[in-house]
This record gives sequence, C-alpha cells and structure tokens, in this order.
Amino acid sequence: MREKFKFIPVLLLAIFIVLIVSGCNNDGGVSVGIVLPTKDEQRWVQDEERFKAAIDESDYSAEILFSQGSSAKEKENVETLISKGIDVLIITPVDGDSAGGAVEAAKEEGIKVISYDRLITNSEAVDYYVTFDSVAVGAAQAQYLVDHSEGSDIPLYLYAGAATDNNAFLFFEGAWNVLQPKIADGTFVIANSSEAEALQDKAELTREEMSGIISQITTSWDPAEAKNKAETHLTAAGADMKGDIAILGPNDDTARAIADVFSQDSAITSYVISGQDATKASIQYIIDDKQSMTVFKDVRTLVSDAMGMALTILDEETPETTGSYDNGSIEVPAKQSDVISVDKANVKAEIVDSGYYEASEFTGLE
Ligand code: BGC
Repeated sequence: MREKFKFIPVLLLAIFIVLIVSGCNNDGGVSVGIVLPTKDEQRWVQDEERFKAAIDESDYSAEILFSQGSSAKEKENVETLISKGIDVLIITPVDGDSAGGAVEAAKEEGIKVISYDRLITNSEAVDYYVTFDSVAVGAAQAQYLVDHSEGSDIPLYLYAGAATDNNAFLFFEGAWNVLQPKIADGTFVIANSSEAEALQDKAELTREEMSGIISQITTSWDPAEAKNKAETHLTAAGADMKGDIAILGPNDDTARAIADVFSQDSAITSYVISGQDATKASIQYIIDDKQSMTVFKDVRTLVSDAMGMALTILDEETPETTGSYDNGSIEVPAKQSDVISVDKANVKAEIVDSGYYEASEFTGLE
C-alpha cells in the first residue's frame, strides 16, 4: 500500500510538467494549420484520418480545414489559420497557381509553408514540398497497361487529371514515357485524342504540348466529367477502336466512372484500366475484376513526412529533403516517397496485411 502512495506525487508532477510543456508550445493557439482540397474524395479523407492520428501523438496543436474544391474557400481557410497564430502551414492546393496568393499572405506573417502532395506553382512563398514520386505513378499505370495488353493495334484511351493540378502533368509525363514507344512500335493506337496522335512520335513533350493533350482528355478529377467524356468517346469510336482495349485511368474515382461506361458497351470485349490512391471503393473493384490496378500511395508515409517536417520547423531546426522541384518560380526543396503498383495478385499483401485497411471492409478478398 505505502509503495503505491509514494508514486502519486511523482505522477501528479509528471502530469503537471506535460501540461506546462504542451501549454508552452501552443500558447492556447494552433501551431500547425493543414488545408486539404476536398472532403468529397476518399483520397483526402484518408489524409485527414492519418493527420488526426499524427496530431494526437504530437505535443503540438493542429487544425485541419477543407477547401471543397474552391480557391476562394482555400484562401479563407489560410486566413483563418493565420489568425489562429500558426507557425507552419501544410497545404494541398485546389489550383496550383491560384494558391500563390493565399500562401504569400502566410509567408508575410513568417509562417513556413509546406506544399503537400500537389505543388504550389509560380510562387516564391513555398518553403518545402512533401510528395509521392508522381512521375513514377504515371509510369506504373502505363507499365501495367503495357504488361497486360496482348497483340498490336490495341485501342488506347487516354484520360488525365485536372489541368490546374501540377500532378496531372507529372502523371501524364510518367505515363507518356512508357506509352509513347509502345504507340510508335504499333502496340497501341490512340483512340481519343487528336493532340496526342499528332505528337505520337515525340518521346519528350513540352508542358505546352502536354497542356494541349490534357485539355482534350481531362477529367478535372471529377467522376461525372470522366463518365461524360468516356460516353462521348465511345459514341464516336468505330468498331476498330473497340474489342480488347487499354485505358489510362488517372485516379481511382475517375477510373471507376470510366470503367462503368466501358463495361456497358457490348463491343468492348475486355479492358485493362489503371487508377491510383488505393481508395476502398477501387480496392473492391479490383477484387471484383472491374478495375485492373491502382497505384498505392501510402498516405501514412506522406503524413508522417509532412508532420515530421512541421515539428522539425517548430523545433527551429532544418528539415531533411531528398531533392527539389522547380515550381516555375523557385526550386522547392522536396521530400519524395515511393509508390507501389497493386492489382488483384498483391492487393491482400500490400493493402490488408500491411494494416492499411481491414479485411472486413471488403467482400470476396482471398
Ligand atoms: C493526387 C491524387 C488525387 C487527385 C485528385 C492528385 O493531386 O495526387 O492522389 O487522386 O489529385 O484529388
């Protein structure tokens, strides 16, 4: 009995110290502000969940706000966080160029800005960039199409992300690096972009050339737009552009919308379609043979890199980086993570056995 009592003052003292230390860090305000682009896509809800877990583990206080696809709302969010006294801003821009104004206001207050997943372009007010290897994402998508298509003259339907998102260019660049030689050698025939067809002999495209192609095949990261485009393309396609085909699906949400359209056309005998994000709905589509693959971007790593960087900055030290990205204005020091190609064969090992999702969230998982 006596032994137990001895520990109580020690315990109280420990609790007291923890309270003082965390109180000092926060000053009642918020240390880290996080702004994510939309709550309507599971990709960013995944990030929110992982950020919440990381925040719970840290001694600093942080707040997460969503911009709901609006640059105006994003600016408002940044202003709200500035008024709460943040020292570090972690932000995924809705539109890479438009976000410049918002982060410049933060920079003026001495706040360090970390661009998260998507690069803020044409602004000097970006201190760091935490990202996946987005060129590798596009390359993995394209490589899957190459490895899972047989024969020659295979119709290839190209789709891309939003032109306001720098990542859409990186994904397309990575995909083009792999697909272009296979278009040039007659394995694939471009089915739905006259701009891409006109450039099919060019191994490396300029940003302007990519812009021209992306403007024809963009989904704007919107499943409804993806569905409309796929319907329009299939209506316009002749019999030679049907049969066994390949589809560059830019991300999971748009890939499912596109796959749903193609699977309803009786002249499409089979399709291979890529995605990315390992969203739950697409993992189920992969198990059900409705989507061929996804690129698994382990958000746990990205969140821990971004939070690690933020905490290093709060401790007044310099974060480690692994390279840099030219954002059109400056070279932004960056930390980059690898990605994993996932299909039915390795979905259980990579997604469930790694603890990313629970097996019970899916049906038919072997
Ligand atoms: C992200 C993807 C996401 C897409 C649409 C991209 O910038 O890298 O993971 O699917 O935006 O939100």
